[in-house]
Amino acid sequence: MAASDQKLAIVILISGNGSNLQAIMDAIDHGELPATIRAVISSRQNAYGLQRAVTAGIPTEVLKHEDYLDRKTYDHALQTRIDHYQPGLIVLAGFMRMLSANFVSHYAGRLLNVHPSLLPAFTGLNTHQRAIDAGAKEHGASIHVVTEELDAGPVIIQARIPVSGDDSTETLAAKIKQLEHRIYPLVIRWFAERRIHIQEDSVVFDGKPLTGPLDYPSIKKATR
Ligand code: GAR
Repeated sequence: MAASDQKLAIVILISGNGSNLQAIMDAIDHGELPATIRAVISSRQNAYGLQRAVTAGIPTEVLKHEDYLDRKTYDHALQTRIDHYQPGLIVLAGFMRMLSANFVSHYAGRLLNVHPSLLPAFTGLNTHQRAIDAGAKEHGASIHVVTEELDAGPVIIQARIPVSGDDSTETLAAKIKQLEHRIYPLVIRWFAERRIHIQEDSVVFDGKPLTGPLDYPSIKKATR
C-alpha cells in the first residue's frame, strides 16, 4: 500500500457524551474520512461515549484523575496509554481536563481540540450562558490546535450561528454541537489528506499559512 493510501491513526480523548466521537465514527463509516480510531480514552468511567466506542468495536480505556497523585502523574500515564496506539493525531472531543506543558509539547503538531465558542471569545467553561449574558450577536464552534495555554492555540476553522433573544443555553448547545459534528470530521479529513500541517504555533492549509480561522461553510464549498 502506498504511504498516501494509509489511513490516519487517531486516538480520541473524551469525558462525556461523545457526540463528536460519534460524528467522527460516522464520517469514517460513510467513507468521508480516511482514518482509523485506534482507541477511545475517557477521563470518566461513566462517559456515554465509551458505550458508543464499544458498540463500534473500538478499544476503550478509562483514566480517572482520582487514581493519580497529581496532574503530572496523570498526564504521564495518559501519554503512555496514547503512545501505545501510535497515533498520528490525537483528537480531544469533550475531554474536560487541562493538559500539562510536557504533554502538549510531546504531541506538538498532532493535537486538536473542539471548543464551543468563537475563540478567542469565551475560553473555558459555560460558553453558551456566557455568550447569552454578554449579549453576543453570534456564537459558534472552533477547531483549534492545542498549545500550553488553555483554548489559545491557532484556530483552524469556525462555524457560526446568530444568537436570538429566544436562545437558551440548551438551544445554543444543541445548535453548536451540530456545527461541531460537521467541522471536526472535516478538519481531521484535511489532516489525514495532509492538507493541514501544524508548525509550532502556526497552521499551513493547502500550502499557505493561515492568517485567521477558516469560515465554514464557505471554505467547504471552495475546497470541495
Ligand atoms: C462539545 O460541545 C465540546 O465543544 C465541548 O464539550 C462538548 C463535548 O460534547 N468541549 C469543551 O468545552 C472543551 N473546552 P460531546 O461529548 O457530545 O462530544
